[in-house]
Amino acid sequence: MNKQLIFFFLFVLFIIYSFSVYFSGTTYDKGISHFTTEAKLGKKLFQEKNCISCHQIYGLGGYMGPELTNIISYRDNDESIARAFLKGGTAKMPNFQLNDEEIDALISYLKYIDKAGNYPPKAYEITPYGTVNEIVTDEK
Ligand code: HEC
Repeated sequence: MNKQLIFFFLFVLFIIYSFSVYFSGTTYDKGISHFTTEAKLGKKLFQEKNCISCHQIYGLGGYMGPELTNIISYRDNDESIARAFLKGGTAKMPNFQLNDEEIDALISYLKYIDKAGNYPPKAYEITPYGTVNEIVTDEK
């Protein structure tokens, strides 16, 4: 085979590869589409009410209450438990007297952080080649 043909073939592969890398990079979402206006309001409330003093997000925060990063998907995307906590509080978690709009906003924020990050250590399986593959149990 002549050299120019090989060069041309490799050059075409290079172009195809460059395009695929470029476009897969721009389609990476990581939850940002869930960062709606409502979720932004929820983030503001989360900061104002200082929820982080007792709860962690992405592993950081206070340790009196549970980690909240994946609390929505952990409960099979059933938000009613989170709502009940926010509505009434418990003996350990204060009742912040939130109205329905504020609760909706906080729930949106919790849904956003659930999509944006994975806090519990990921589950892996070992492949026959001795490398690891993440076991994806839930669409993030
Ligand atoms: C004084 C500490 C404290 C603060 C402040 C606090 N929480 Fe909590 N939260 C807790 C504790 C403790 C629990 C577990 C409650 C229990 O077991 O009674 C909890 C539970 C929860 C749960 C339920 C978790 C589950 O397992 O499903 C959610 C959701 C939640 N809190 C959200 C919030 C949000 C949002 C804020 C801010 C508006 C907040 N918390 C502020 C202490 C706190």
